[in-house]
Amino acid sequence: AGVAATLGVERLTRAEPIESYRGQALVPNGNWTPVKAVTDLPEGIPVAFRTGAIEGFLIRNGGQVRGLSAVCTHMGCILNYSKLRNQFECPCHGATFGIDGDPNNQYSAPLRSLPSLDVRIQRGQVEVYTV
Ligand code: FES
Repeated sequence: AGVAATLGVERLTRAEPIESYRGQALVPNGNWTPVKAVTDLPEGIPVAFRTGAIEGFLIRNGGQVRGLSAVCTHMGCILNYSKLRNQFECPCHGATFGIDGDPNNQYSAPLRSLPSLDVRIQRGQVEVYTV
């Protein structure tokens, strides 16, 4: 927090699961890229975004925004968000994940949770750390 304050960075979500996901960061040498205006994010409703390297969802709760990977942890298909069921759904083999990123159903082996993404807010824009 001290470093962020020194740099004037408003960093609301430092996604700790990134370091533990398969033991390496999702994006080791990237840049901060603006993907959405904070005002485009409804309260508690995931909004999909895409950069060159990442497909994900942004979820705003009050003044905080969380980023989640949209890549299914079964075999890598891109998840859709169902507003009706309030969950992420995989079009390939039917896996579903809660909006906290945890899997709702099991396969022969338990699915991993969706990795969190590094997200920050700068001048009203949500930025994601990506290549
Ligand atoms: Fe998503 Fe298989 S790739 S359920």
